[in-house]
Amino acid sequence: MTQSRLFTKAIERPRNQVPPFKSQLLKWVGNKQRFAHEIISYFPADFGTYYEPFLGTGAVLATLAPEKAVGSDVLEPLVQIFQTLLDDPRKLLRWYETRWTDFQKDRNATYRKIQARYSKKANAADLVFLSRSCYGGVIRFRKDGYISTPIGVHAPISPASMKMRVDLWRERLAGATFVHSDFEATIDLAQEGDVVYCDPPYYDTQSILYGAQSFSLERLYKAISSAKARGAYIALSIDGHKKSGTKACDIPLPEDGLFERALAVNCGRSMLKRFQMEGKSLESEVVSDRLLLSWS
Ligand SMILES: C[S@@+](CC[C@H](N)C(=O)[O-])C[C@H]1O[C@@H](n2cnc3c(N)ncnc32)[C@H](O)[C@@H]1O
Repeated sequence: MTQSRLFTKAIERPRNQVPPFKSQLLKWVGNKQRFAHEIISYFPADFGTYYEPFLGTGAVLATLAPEKAVGSDVLEPLVQIFQTLLDDPRKLLRWYETRWTDFQKDRNATYRKIQARYSKKANAADLVFLSRSCYGGVIRFRKDGYISTPIGVHAPISPASMKMRVDLWRERLAGATFVHSDFEATIDLAQEGDVVYCDPPYYDTQSILYGAQSFSLERLYKAISSAKARGAYIALSIDGHKKSGTKACDIPLPEDGLFERALAVNCGRSMLKRFQMEGKSLESEVVSDRLLLSWS
């Protein structure tokens, strides 16, 4: 598929304007919190159910705050965090507060204990606190599921701040259902007039960041193609790590005609690179994601 084919002029139709939503629930490097409103601005103004099959921290879903939605992910503890947020918010707050209180007494020992416990058995309660207290929110998974990120230098948010976030997020996610599932099963649910937003893990860096899951681009394009044929609108983020904008994005694009538009979403400087380069200059590192749309 050629770029000129993708960058054809779009038909003007009402778009979805929502204000930025800055209050993160989970701290997780690479999430779309800061750009979610820009991504959403390209969605149609009217749609049925919203599907997000690579939910991650739920940044786009929470910014959109749709009437009806399904959010899913293969990382089960992540999904359990959102299920608990809706079903039993006080439990979620208790999880956070007990760990935060221990952390005030001995930060290093508490962090190590939580890290070891999560690694023994992945669980939502520990993951919430790890995401808020690890270094830079860079949750890195080893292949065996162990979270290898060291403790952060910052003070994790207070239980009061967590409560404020839980209340806000609950309101915004009231129309959503959360499912532990592979992306294909979720995309298969989308019907005519529904929106599906996909933000998959393309690179090794991302499978380290979100756990070692199997992901196949070919399988994704197939599922998107079927959903498009049923009349759903599909938007796909392509992670565009570029050096000074010179290195072309090397993700293989799908068959001609699957996507009708490509847009650049500027993601500023790469936080992940900043972490990896440990303070060395980042002058040449600008990240610009592409957003492919299945409609014009
Ligand atoms: C790039 S992250 C999504 C980030 C999200 N947009 C945010 O703002 O936080 C990709 C997500 O896809 C999930 N994932 C990886 N393989 C998957 C699969 N086969 N099916 C469903 N989810 C998958 C990962 O667990 C991760 O949460």
